[in-house]
Amino acid sequence: MSAPASDMIIRDAKVEDVPQMSAFLGRIAEMGRRVSPWDEDFVLRNYINAADKIQCALAEDDGKVLGFQSLKLATEGNIYDVTPGWGIIGTHVNPDAARRGVGRSLFTKTLRAAHEHGLKKIDASISAANPEGLAYYEAMGFRTYRSPNDLICKCYDL
Ligand SMILES: CC(C)(COP(=O)(O)OP(=O)(O)OC[C@H]1O[C@@H](n2cnc3c(N)ncnc32)[C@H](O)[C@@H]1OP(=O)(O)O)[C@@H](O)C(=O)NCCC(=O)NCCS
Repeated sequence: MSAPASDMIIRDAKVEDVPQMSAFLGRIAEMGRRVSPWDEDFVLRNYINAADKIQCALAEDDGKVLGFQSLKLATEGNIYDVTPGWGIIGTHVNPDAARRGVGRSLFTKTLRAAHEHGLKKIDASISAANPEGLAYYEAMGFRTYRSPNDLICKCYDL
C-alpha cells in the first residue's frame, strides 16, 4: 500500500470538479475497469445533477480530485434492476491515488448520507472480472447476494 492521502478533504462533488472527474474516469476505462461513458456531459448528468442522486462524495487534495462515490436511490424500473428503495453505490478512485484509503474515506461520508436518508440496503454491482472492486466492497462490509450475467452484486445492510 502507498502512503495514506493524509491531507485529503472529503466533500460534495461540484460542477467545477467535472473536468477532473471525467479525465480519470477515462483512464479507468482504458484500464478495462469501466464500460459506461465518461465524457463531461455524462458526468454532469449522471453524478452531479442526477434526479435520483442522494449524494456524490468527492475526495480532494490541494485541488486535485482523488476520487468520488455516487449514492443514488433505486427507483421503479431502474436500469440496474435493483429493488426500489435501496441505495445504489458507485466508486471511482483516480488511478494515481489508488490504495491510499480514498475509497474507505469516501464510504464514511456515503454511509452517513445513507443513514440520514433512511436507507436499509445499498447495492454495489461490480464486474466479475474486477478483483479490486470486489475486494474493496467486501472490505467495506458488502456481501454478495446475486450474480446476474457477468456481474457480482453485493449488498450492504444498514
Ligand atoms: C476499487 C477502488 C474503488 C478502491 O479504492 P481505493 O481508494 O484504492 O481503496 P482503499 O485504499 O480505500 O482500500 C480500502 C480497502 O479495500 C480493499 N482494496 C482496495 N483496493 C484493493 C486492491 N487493489 N486489491 C485488494 N484489496 C483492495 C482493501 O481491503 C483495502 O484496505 P487496506 O488497504 O487497508 O488493505 C479503486 O481501485 C477504483 O476506483 N477502481 C476502479 C473503478 C472500480 O473498480 N470501482 C468499483 C467497482 S464499480
